[in-house]
Amino acid sequence: MSADPPFIVHRDDVEEKEGRYPPPFEAEVVGRGRDLGRAAGSQSLGAWLDRLPPGQRSSFPHAHLAEEELVYVLQGHPVLRWIPGDQPPRETQLRPGSFVAFPAGTGIAHAFTNPTSEDVLLFVVGERRGGDRVAYPESPQLEDWRLQRRPHGVWTDRLAPTGEARPPATRIETRRLVLRPWEPSDVPALCALLEDNQDHLLPWMSWAQALKSYDEQLSWVLTQRGRFDRSEDYTLGVFLPDGTPIGSTGLHSRLRPAGLEIGYWIDRDHQGQGYVTEWCAALCRVASEVLNTPLVEIHHAPGNLRSAAVPQRLGFLQEATLVARDKVIWSWTPELPSELIQAAEVRALDALGRRLL
Ligand SMILES: CC(C)(COP(=O)(O)OP(=O)(O)OC[C@H]1O[C@@H](n2cnc3c(N)ncnc32)[C@H](O)[C@@H]1OP(=O)(O)O)[C@@H](O)C(=O)NCCC(=O)NCCS
Repeated sequence: MSADPPFIVHRDDVEEKEGRYPPPFEAEVVGRGRDLGRAAGSQSLGAWLDRLPPGQRSSFPHAHLAEEELVYVLQGHPVLRWIPGDQPPRETQLRPGSFVAFPAGTGIAHAFTNPTSEDVLLFVVGERRGGDRVAYPESPQLEDWRLQRRPHGVWTDRLAPTGEARPPATRIETRRLVLRPWEPSDVPALCALLEDNQDHLLPWMSWAQALKSYDEQLSWVLTQRGRFDRSEDYTLGVFLPDGTPIGSTGLHSRLRPAGLEIGYWIDRDHQGQGYVTEWCAALCRVASEVLNTPLVEIHHAPGNLRSAAVPQRLGFLQEATLVARDKVIWSWTPELPSELIQAAEVRALDALGRRLL
């Protein structure tokens, strides 16, 4: 029989190594692992066979911002120690066949311990992603040590993940629409759309006065895109499923940190079909469930009745009319019941296609 190809390995051929944190935290052995993934050439996923002898644990309790982890108990009766948010740690007894998933970004810190007199064997799979950050809620000294060496590797806001902590949704799908940041290749279509709608927008949007050249519009798209990627502000184009652009919107940061403001306009020929209401309902869910925003507002001029009808339809509260500033403010918080928002069909994906909502 010919030799196995390099992508097939057997655990007996992969050395078992002690797990230790770097000095000065090296005193405790944290399990013994066989790095099957690297041995077989896996790239974007790590895979380990971890053995926990009696009395050992798999790691210091930790939570990943960007990397998902999966653990399958092959043998023994480990205890899962897990720390949800700022609540006290909990312990759950596992047994052979137990399977545990830790999606990225939940902030649930975890470690496996072996309080029994038999070995525990775990099969562990974890993503390898650039830009991951890790929180160690029970090891402040390790966090401090890491903060000094690799500040971007420490997840310091595990308890209150913000837009900076969660990857933003770069694609939002509603029942009839797709929302995504404008791309350079959209510039010709966006210029044409703005030109067609200049009269329609002008009464309410003074920037529509000056139509931009392709180069000026490209520069605007790149600026918005940069702000989006830095989680500073989220401008989104609105498209039909066939790719036709019909409007523009965004979750804007003018109110931060208190909340986000939705702005919108739609092509005149696509008004009156509930599209704006549909996408605003989806944006409310993304703001609260992905970006953990406690408040969403919509502002419009007092005479803009079509604009006023959108937050009204969605169940926003009319908060104030600022006469001197010619502005009406509507607000929504996740506690405010809104059938349209709660029932909104929405899929939100990050730049790597991972489902956020
Ligand atoms: C303000 C503006 C975005 C509102 O657009 P809109 O098309 O009226 O809003 P929607 O897409 O939610 O559509 C609502 C209308 O569709 C109807 N509709 C049809 N199907 C619907 C559905 N499934 N759900 C909700 N409404 C539906 C509603 O009855 C309503 O019709 P009505 O105006 O006759 O009462 C649009 O007029 C616009 O772009 N104006 C210029 C720019 C502007 O003013 N922007 C806002 C600045 S603050």
